[in-house]
Amino acid sequence: MMEHARIVEVGPRDGLQNEKQSISTATKLELIERLVAAGLRDIEAASFVSPKWVPQMADHVEIMRGLVHHDGVNYPVLTPNLKGFEAAVAEGAKEVAVFASASEGFSQKNINCSIDESIDRFVPVFEAARRLGVRVRGYVSCAIDCPYDGAIAPGKVADVAQRLHELGSYEVSLADTIGTATPGSLLPMLEAVAKRVPVAQLAGHYHDTYGMAIANVVASYGFGLRVFDSSIAGLGGCPYAKGATGNVATEDVVYLLHGLGAETGIDLDVLVDCGAWISAALNRQTGSRVSRALIAKRPATAVA
Ligand code: HMG
Ligand code: MG
Repeated sequence: MMEHARIVEVGPRDGLQNEKQSISTATKLELIERLVAAGLRDIEAASFVSPKWVPQMADHVEIMRGLVHHDGVNYPVLTPNLKGFEAAVAEGAKEVAVFASASEGFSQKNINCSIDESIDRFVPVFEAARRLGVRVRGYVSCAIDCPYDGAIAPGKVADVAQRLHELGSYEVSLADTIGTATPGSLLPMLEAVAKRVPVAQLAGHYHDTYGMAIANVVASYGFGLRVFDSSIAGLGGCPYAKGATGNVATEDVVYLLHGLGAETGIDLDVLVDCGAWISAALNRQTGSRVSRALIAKRPATAVA
């Protein structure tokens, strides 16, 4: 039987949130349409966070109003509290993501509260979401290391993941926020979490700062995970995790998963065009090795 793996594209959110140059709403919307054309079905479109904290996501309302709706395509948005949730739902959001941290230091720096306080803020979000039929995804940041607190114990990650699961997250995404994990540190964390949350409801969200993200996807796949977050052209980074680079590139994850015999529903050629387009729009080299290799093989006339 063919294995199936799902990719959650976080480029328009995680990929762009840290960009210093202002990116037009039209460019973001075109990026999302190109991702849909490549076959992505879960695309994080925006964040309903404070524009003072993340200015690049300030056009969240315009993004929601400009999204083209396609059958089977989900556009989750980040919501740190009830205020963000209500604003997102008023604009038609059907899926949101709440984000907690396994480390106190990052929780304070990223959302200005302790881990416990963040969970308290999420409770009314989950309640309202249940009432309104909105799906909620949960994130656990700093599942390996924290830029402020250092190494994080797997049990701590499992505690936070379990709380998000019990509150009603349909899936919990485990984030290597600063991209320091190797399979050696990742697998004990996955083992601890999997004792509390079913593996089928876990996702891997790996940043690629040390070039280990693709190795971590392989290790996670072997462990049983079938959902991975990634960012087109490897864009990204969190403004409150200094020095952390982008997520693992979607092109690289798709190439890997297809090589492992998993079906993703994504057309790699169209995806590579999309990555080349956004890299040109941002005036930078792609972070995807697969994209560079495939573009180098194309006839000189074939330009994205
Ligand atoms: P705060 O300052 O503690 O909030 O920020 P507050 O409740 O005291 O309110 C202060 C002001 O913010 C008020 O406005 C509120 O109305 C406003 P003022 O009266 O001063 O004009 N406010 C909001 N505005 C818009 N949307 C909202 C909202 N809530 C309050 N939802 C807050 C707390 C959580 C809002 C802030 O810290 C924040 O916005 N943080 C977001 C940080 C962020 O987006 N980080 C990046 C995403 S997470 C990430 O990248 C990690 C991930 O990729 C996984 C991984 O890799 O680890 C997911
Ligand atoms: Mg991230």
